[in-house]
Amino acid sequence: MVKTKTVLVTGASSGIGQAIAILLAQKGYHVFGTSRYPISRIIPQVEMIGLDVRSDESVEACIRTVMNKAGRLDILINNAGYELGGALEETSLDEATGQFDTNFLGVLRMIKAALPIMREQNQGQIINISSLAGLVGIPFLGMYSASKFALEGYSESLRHEVKPFNIHVSMVEPSFLKTPMMDARQLAAHPIGDYDQWRKRALAAVRKFEENAPGPELVANTVLKIIKSKSPRLRYILGQQATVVSNLRRFLPEAMLEQGIRGSFNLDERK
Ligand SMILES: NC(=O)c1ccc[n+]([C@@H]2O[C@H](COP(=O)([O-])OP(=O)(O)OC[C@H]3O[C@@H](n4cnc5c(N)ncnc54)[C@H](OP(=O)(O)O)[C@@H]3O)[C@@H](O)[C@H]2O)c1
Repeated sequence: MVKTKTVLVTGASSGIGQAIAILLAQKGYHVFGTSRYPISRIIPQVEMIGLDVRSDESVEACIRTVMNKAGRLDILINNAGYELGGALEETSLDEATGQFDTNFLGVLRMIKAALPIMREQNQGQIINISSLAGLVGIPFLGMYSASKFALEGYSESLRHEVKPFNIHVSMVEPSFLKTPMMDARQLAAHPIGDYDQWRKRALAAVRKFEENAPGPELVANTVLKIIKSKSPRLRYILGQQATVVSNLRRFLPEAMLEQGIRGSFNLDERK
């Protein structure tokens, strides 16, 4: 049994967040999970709290609830997010704003609310769930990629700034996974016909990757490893596609990665 640490997992009602919350509760951590609909999402041994990461008030109330019930916050896992698909030209500014509000600004809100507590404790850990899409621009998931690239830059800088307060920042960068997100993907509301065949090809390739992918437990096991590590790294790359992309970026010319991406998402004319 581990010494009880208090963990807050955003988006614990489904997929990766749920797998993390279940595993950490089983391992003896005091786990709070969140959902915009907490009453309908009961997970054994996990205290569910209402949270919409797009709302300052909701974020403040969530952190207040954790502090009132547990008196401390040791580990914050920023997992809540969704995927917006469609060509970038098809994506409206409102749709782009929504994607950033949840996937990027939502994380900022949570961290800004948690840091004063962690600094006061002189101890804390923040784990942000990024993605393969934060390592390389995924065609027809471009705004999703942009939100994860923003998260990458933010997390990298934050790690330096909060190190003196004994606060560790890490990111998990999973490849495609089989989770309910594959059926919840939103699409830009106003498609442009010229993109139809390319969008269909790319999203069909994404679907195939997801159907053949591992489940969310892969991320949960890695999060547990990060929490237990004495010196957690900045990045934890998970799964085949993210590993390949990261290696191609490091060792081969950019053009080869570009060619690999176009091939993987079926974007070149077949002869
Ligand atoms: N699945 C993949 O292939 C994959 C790969 C790499 C990275 N990721 C990342 O992993 C994270 C989780 O993905 P998943 O596959 O587990 O997705 P999922 O099954 O669709 O779960 C998404 C979670 O986010 C929560 N959420 C969505 N909008 C929210 C908001 N405005 N405020 C608070 N919570 C919100 C949902 O909670 P409620 O609806 O109950 O509020 C739900 O619990 C995301 O950040 C995603 O980008 C996923």
